[in-house]
Amino acid sequence: MKTTILSVIAFASVVIAAPQLSPDHNAVIVKYNSDNGGDSYNYGYETSNKISHQETGQLVNAGTENESMTVRGQFSYVGLDGVVYTITYIADENGFQPQGAHIPH
Ligand SMILES: *[C@@H]1O[C@H](CO)[C@@H](O)[C@H](O)[C@H]1NC(C)=O
Repeated sequence: MKTTILSVIAFASVVIAAPQLSPDHNAVIVKYNSDNGGDSYNYGYETSNKISHQETGQLVNAGTENESMTVRGQFSYVGLDGVVYTITYIADENGFQPQGAHIPH
């Protein structure tokens, strides 16, 4: 009897501890492109669960002490609340600069 109760408790805790698979766990990439031009690149992808991301990078001030990459991009995803969140960003000599309706300015 004691063993049975312990088994039930053990089994119940395994069930409770089992990882909950997110509905996103079987998402797949439905679109992908990538191009590297040496001084520039771009890529983008979209997934079946509505995540998308595009980014382009461009080398600026090539050959000078201030040579750097200016990166522009945008990604979006559907939040747990069903809202589509979009971030547009620039990353350059001034740092990573994200913009989005849901983030403070
Ligand atoms: C590089 O940037 C610094 C800081 O803005 C500037 O003082 C310098 O003149 C720049 N150098 C070149 C080669 O443009």
